[in-house]
Amino acid sequence: MGKIYIKDMDEEDISQVALLSGELFKREGWDREAFEKELDNPISRVRVIKDGFKIVGFYVAWIISDEIELASIAVHSEYRGKNFAQQLLDDLINYGIKFNSKIVFLEVRESNERAISFYKKNQFEYLSTRKNYYVDGENATIFQRKL
Ligand SMILES: CC(C)(COP(=O)(O)OP(=O)(O)OC[C@H]1O[C@@H](n2cnc3c(N)ncnc32)[C@H](O)[C@@H]1OP(=O)(O)O)[C@@H](O)C(=O)NCCC(=O)NCCS
Repeated sequence: MGKIYIKDMDEEDISQVALLSGELFKREGWDREAFEKELDNPISRVRVIKDGFKIVGFYVAWIISDEIELASIAVHSEYRGKNFAQQLLDDLINYGIKFNSKIVFLEVRESNERAISFYKKNQFEYLSTRKNYYVDGENATIFQRKL
């Protein structure tokens, strides 16, 4: 492994991030254009985790007044279980605390056990269920974490 670090996503990262998002989330993944828009979105915080030159994970969060919506977080399948998602989430939580955010929300597929155990371990609590939220009819679970 090379040097592992987290940084803001910039123009040069977009191709790799969009590729990773497409691989992991299939048709629900964001394309290049969607990530381009996030770069111009003043409320958006998009951070990537890199292994040398390679992007191995990212998150997209929207900072809306004193609330944060974690829109997407993902780690490359070959890099799972190495605390990379943890580092990304810590990066967001620390940012939220520093800038007086009060709460973080996110939604996740009911069947996504791995992500759910990751969120629970990080003090996220069940808030509600959105029925038929995803295109295939699966429900979304909404979690919240107070800061
Ligand atoms: C969910 C995801 C981001 C976790 O990434 P990761 O880098 O493997 O997570 P970490 O290594 O930081 O692990 C943190 C915690 O995740 C959970 N976790 C990791 N591997 C797990 C496994 N095989 N089974 C269950 N839980 C697991 C554990 O709670 C772990 O804590 P631990 O280290 O004390 O066991 C990753 O699996 C992923 O990208 N999935 C596809 C995209 C996705 O579903 N994103 C969430 C959409 S809402």
